[in-house]
Amino acid sequence: MHRVIISGIGVAIPDASITNEELVESFNTWVDDENMRRRDAGEEPLQKSNSEFIVYASGVKRRHVLERDGILDPARMAPRIPERPDDELSVMAEFGVASAQKAIADAGIEPSEIDLVICSASHQQRPYPALAIEIQNALGTGGSAFDMSLGCSSAAAALHVAYNLVRAGAHKRILIVSPEIITGHLNFRDRQTHFIFGDASASLVVEAIGDDETRPGKFEVLGTDTWTQFSNNIRTNFGFLVRAGQEDTSVVRMEGNMIKQVGNKVFKEVTVAAHRFVVDFLARKGLKTAEMRRFWLHQANARMNAMILKMALGHEVDHDRAPMVLERLGNTAAAGAVIALKENHEDMAAGDHGLFCAFGAGYSIGAALLKKH
Ligand code: COA
Repeated sequence: MHRVIISGIGVAIPDASITNEELVESFNTWVDDENMRRRDAGEEPLQKSNSEFIVYASGVKRRHVLERDGILDPARMAPRIPERPDDELSVMAEFGVASAQKAIADAGIEPSEIDLVICSASHQQRPYPALAIEIQNALGTGGSAFDMSLGCSSAAAALHVAYNLVRAGAHKRILIVSPEIITGHLNFRDRQTHFIFGDASASLVVEAIGDDETRPGKFEVLGTDTWTQFSNNIRTNFGFLVRAGQEDTSVVRMEGNMIKQVGNKVFKEVTVAAHRFVVDFLARKGLKTAEMRRFWLHQANARMNAMILKMALGHEVDHDRAPMVLERLGNTAAAGAVIALKENHEDMAAGDHGLFCAFGAGYSIGAALLKKH
């Protein structure tokens, strides 16, 4: 078995951002119009959204988005991302390449030294050709490529796959790419979810090292694992069968088929599952939660992360121990925990342990135990 390190981490965050106030203003303008229609139709009115609620309930203050144009327009409420011809790099591959190039530079290698690309994200732009193969082609990496997906745990699940493939000697260097364009699939007319998500792309290079080798500043992966349990509480029904389920096939209906979530159930059930998973996973590795210098957790909800760690450790932890990036980025799905890792590791000492752990739709949880070289 080979020893495995994360040799490169890369993050791409779009320049454009939207504050809670902007988002709420556009939502409430749409609600006013919609409620006039509902009143005339004798239907129940919709309730308005509220910035204070958003910060209190989730911790999110703003989010970065790939394309601002269209999202705040009450007549549209979706980003305007023009279709591209097939011979142009697709939007999601381009976003993936942006973080992948940074991860490859961080690893100090050439793209050709990578022998597998895994594109793992909560939403893939299309089923085929695999986004990972388009990214492989754009970067000029060797070997092969495939896509996979596990909701917000997509990067953690890909790390589980990559770690074990490199460890077993099947591949020498694997690039994991998680380009998350959630705004393309978010229902900005849904009060429950319109404020939660943002866009970001994150990549990791995972590679084998020699038995006696040390790579100062890099993290050795000491183990990975995943956990899943079926739940409908975070669900999208958008897929290739949507058209076949409609009488009128001239327009594919997105409304009702985008992300929906029973947030408070997810909060309770995933908090319980994640804290148990963290404690059990570390125990299987012969370690205790108290021995972790840092926790890079999924960035969905600040209160949820605080509660998971309080239950796992028996006391509260500060942001130095469990950094949060969601206040400024929102929930960036699989990219979130990787961004927390990228932005919060340079101060760690050689020998420090850290836990990377993501959770989300499925339900799913994925984790990696890391040790600083
Ligand atoms: N503005 C104002 N009020 C709102 C609102 C909004 N945008 N959205 C919901 N509310 C209201 C609800 O209607 C409800 O009102 P009621 O008490 O009168 O019925 C109240 O706020 C509480 O709603 P609830 O859904 O219970 O809120 P919450 O405290 O659970 O927070 C989330 C909502 C989504 C922020 C939270 O549940 C969450 O983050 N869950 C976990 C998400 C997650 O981890 N997902 C996995 C990864 S993708």
